[in-house]
Amino acid sequence: MQINENVTTNEAFKPLIVAFCCNWCSYAGADLAGTNRLNYPADVKIIRVPCSCRVNPTFILKAFQKGADGVIICGCHPGDCHYTSGNYYARRRMTLLFSMLDYLGIEKERTRVEWVSAAEGVKFADTMNSFVETITKLGRNKRLEDLRCRK
Ligand code: FES
Repeated sequence: MQINENVTTNEAFKPLIVAFCCNWCSYAGADLAGTNRLNYPADVKIIRVPCSCRVNPTFILKAFQKGADGVIICGCHPGDCHYTSGNYYARRRMTLLFSMLDYLGIEKERTRVEWVSAAEGVKFADTMNSFVETITKLGRNKRLEDLRCRK
């Protein structure tokens, strides 16, 4: 038992990242990153959504509750949304949510909105690498966490 506890404490911190990617641009960008064999951490769990505006603020709260250390929303560039203005709504909604989360003690760096097109596999990989690096520096997120959801 003592040995197992030591092994657990010596393990390097690997953040759990949830990335909501819109189907039409960012998910295709992630796909391109994979096709081009660009590296980004396996700790990034991608959830495909039809549009960035489909991401309800409760999805983000739920992700943090379930143990996510960082949440990123990726969508089409402004003006390129498949549904015309979905990403504008998402941007406004997330700005409000992120400031509320900051007020609750979840650092603003733990949340991010990025625009990644289907042709930007490199940008997708770079964004994920830098986001994971930021979250690794911040450490584990303990706010809103439901301990029953951790392994
Ligand atoms: Fe990509 Fe709306 S379809 S952000």
